[in-house]
Amino acid sequence: MVDLYPLAAPLLRALKPEFAHSLTIWALKSGLGARAAPPDPPSLTLSVLGRTFANPIGMAAGFDKSAQVADAILAMGFGFAEVGTVTPKPQAGNPKPRLFRLSQDHALINRLGFNNDGLEVVAGRLDARRGRSGIVGVNIGANRDSADRVADYVMGFERFAGLADYVTINVSSPNTPGLRALQDKSALDDLVERLMAARPEPESARRTPLLLKIAPDLDDQALDDIAEIVLARHIDGVIISNTTIGRRDRLRSRHGHEQGGLSGTPLFQMSTQILRRFHQITEGRVLLIGVGGIGSGADAYEKIRSGASLVQLYSALTYQGPGLIKRIKQDLAACLARDGFSHVAEAVGTGVER
Ligand SMILES: Cc1cc2nc3c(=O)[nH]c(=O)nc-3n(C[C@H](O)[C@H](O)[C@H](O)COP(=O)(O)O)c2cc1C
Repeated sequence: MVDLYPLAAPLLRALKPEFAHSLTIWALKSGLGARAAPPDPPSLTLSVLGRTFANPIGMAAGFDKSAQVADAILAMGFGFAEVGTVTPKPQAGNPKPRLFRLSQDHALINRLGFNNDGLEVVAGRLDARRGRSGIVGVNIGANRDSADRVADYVMGFERFAGLADYVTINVSSPNTPGLRALQDKSALDDLVERLMAARPEPESARRTPLLLKIAPDLDDQALDDIAEIVLARHIDGVIISNTTIGRRDRLRSRHGHEQGGLSGTPLFQMSTQILRRFHQITEGRVLLIGVGGIGSGADAYEKIRSGASLVQLYSALTYQGPGLIKRIKQDLAACLARDGFSHVAEAVGTGVER
């Protein structure tokens, strides 16, 4: 099929960003994005989380919040797709406008606030694609008005265990007031204890991996505390990172002052630094997914050398279109070959001093 993106790009950029996003989801649902992606370079295959990934490049949470187009995302050439954030009850999110393009900074600011169709609808969609190939994780959260946020996560985990290839607990969105307090030591430990107790068949080979997604705005003490809990409670992986509430000082775009989480290029260095530090303090014993500002194969490679086994992206896709995925994979394979690595797993953490 022909690549429609170069034709559609100027139109999408002329539209309000949230409308452009809805149109993109509609196009993907209608089959307009489907293309037979060429096979991935063999050096990009890796086995982690009990699954084999054809390549380590994933779609980050927030693009397909309600699991409407997971298979279309995979068909674009991603090695895996993370859908969500999903909350137990459907939720409209914050008032519009709530998504801003910062074109001069290659960045976005969003304060969407977990708009999604809710747990039952999303579970139905995942159930309908059961048996299809392709790795799909679900990112779960709590409703804004929930009286018991921990119970919301437990509900999500119980519902999606077995339906998803992994479940991520998102305690790092800046757009639900108070949510990030769940990253504090005792709150996080309680949450993870409750989730682990709820995990069906904890010893079975098919148990669903549980991942944690953290903010980039954490100090060293907070990272040490989180690392301790991750190791003690055997969390299967950590996604580093969500959007930042800081980093506004050097932005050039007129929307730079908007409230919400900042993603894209200005997030790259700070999220990579946190990734590197987390890899260091956990001595490479925890699976890490690096996300934040990836826009090229060299960026993906830097995340991998900083400790990430897998990576994800979102913002760069809105600026560069789906052709980016193929370029990242080709350039990443070239970086690995140049440095003498025959498989991506060999490069993980090689840029981190121990
Ligand atoms: C519009 C938008 C919505 C997002 N929604 C979510 C979300 O629902 N849950 C989540 O965990 N992360 C969400 N994120 C954060 C991304 O998953 C990712 O962590 C962040 O954007 C950094 O990656 P990037 O710089 O490649 O965009 C969202 C990001 C954007 C831009």
